[in-house]
Amino acid sequence: MEKIEKLRIDLEFIAANHAKACFASSFSLEDMVLTDMIARHGIPVSVFTIDTGRLPEETYALMQKTKEHYRIDLSVYFPKAQAVEAYLETHGPNAFYDSVELRRSCCEIRKVEPLSRALEGHGSWITGMRRQQSQTRTGLNASEFDSGNGLYKFNPLLEWSEAEIWNYIQLQGVPYNALHDRGYPSIGCSPCTRAITKGEDIRAGRWWWEDTSSKECGLHRKKA
Ligand code: ADX
Ligand code: SF4
Repeated sequence: MEKIEKLRIDLEFIAANHAKACFASSFSLEDMVLTDMIARHGIPVSVFTIDTGRLPEETYALMQKTKEHYRIDLSVYFPKAQAVEAYLETHGPNAFYDSVELRRSCCEIRKVEPLSRALEGHGSWITGMRRQQSQTRTGLNASEFDSGNGLYKFNPLLEWSEAEIWNYIQLQGVPYNALHDRGYPSIGCSPCTRAITKGEDIRAGRWWWEDTSSKECGLHRKKA
């Protein structure tokens, strides 16, 4: 309960002191907790998502359900058609399996460029990242200046555990992605996400053909 109250206070602080605040939702469990808090308490934070064009059907279903359930305004950012067309013509639709470079350039076109448009004109952005999600997130800060994008970035669920996230979801009856009940703890684009087996790391199903060290889509990259 203490953590939930702290989350509400943190979100209200961000909205009041770092306006205009926005929240990036991928409809993950964490992002659904944040959506519920923002909607429940009427916190003035705008919500956006990046529709990469390759999301699983279950994520689109949850996007629809979220709009209906919370009646929130959801801004959607889509990759630039010309960039996608050029990539597809040159490399083919599934070239991300061929090399880390081609995978990163797909993420650049479908995620990173739309993110920079989504953040324009905002004073801060909020994510659902947690420290326990992966080795690359152990050193994250709850807040920092995102110099690459030129605004403050907040990770208010940083210290929440997976069990605490599930408790909130169940306690408040928050809608969630049907894939979570089918072995997908972490969900991104459909071709780059698989289910995990017992004992595997929660992010083992993301870009599973790559080394752990290269598993970075660029949304949370620190630019020099
Ligand atoms: S990723 O870097 O591996 O893709 P992950 O799926 O763990 O990130 O999500 C971490 C946070 O990044 C989410 O809580 C959300 O704030 C943001 N995020 C990731 N994907 C998207 C998306 N498609 N649209 C908006 N925000 C996103
Ligand atoms: Fe492309 Fe896969 Fe990155 Fe989605 S996760 S943008 S499909 S490489």
